[in-house]
Amino acid sequence: MIANSPHDLQGLRASGRAVRAAFEAMFSACEAGMTTRALDNIGAAELLRQGARSAPKMYYDFPGATCISVNEEAAHGIPGDRLICDGDMVNIDVSANLEGYVADMGQSFVVGRASEAQARICRAVEEAVLQAIARVHSGCSLNVIGEAVQAVADRHGYTIVENLGSHGVGGSIHEEPSYIPMNNPLETRTLDRGCVLTIEPFFSSGARWVEEGEDGWTLSVPEGQLVAQFEHTIIVTDADALVITA
Ligand code: CO
Ligand code: CO
Repeated sequence: MIANSPHDLQGLRASGRAVRAAFEAMFSACEAGMTTRALDNIGAAELLRQGARSAPKMYYDFPGATCISVNEEAAHGIPGDRLICDGDMVNIDVSANLEGYVADMGQSFVVGRASEAQARICRAVEEAVLQAIARVHSGCSLNVIGEAVQAVADRHGYTIVENLGSHGVGGSIHEEPSYIPMNNPLETRTLDRGCVLTIEPFFSSGARWVEEGEDGWTLSVPEGQLVAQFEHTIIVTDADALVITA
């Protein structure tokens, strides 16, 4: 959506705070030995407390309040009986509708002791998002995001997953512009003031594609590959972008 009133800004910020609160509640509770369902329940309770509705549930009838993806799972992991283990890389992705405004955020992190490789990829994908956010302003090419993300991926030697998109958000969960956050010199779209969108690259140790699992939801890289995502929702302005999920 294009945010063009103080009411929009207020509503989007409140939605961003709600998803951040749910993420933080889950992040601080996440420990080895718990199921992904128990973790999801914590997020669901926090969204309820905030008066927000889970966006995946509301828009896609997703079987969970949040998406929890473990290890090779990149995105859309279904909360369930899976036990989280020490050394697992977990991605929590929370998106919600609060009074008509939708925000979306996600982050990969390691439970317990991280390997150097796990820690590096998590740091790199976060760095990519922060670098991209710093480049965005009204009137700029949408491709400044892809360029910035690609530069960080290349420098660290990671692939970018090419079939997981970033997207407009704010009025609904998936809006235009839908784009892959990698360098595309043919990209002609520009970012308007007030545009609300996510930046959410997925970095991998080598995979360029995710495949859908038998459950019809979970998107995974091949066994043995690392994958990590970091996601914020931002609002484009004439100066620095507003990060509503920080
Ligand atoms: Co998203
Ligand atoms: Co998300």
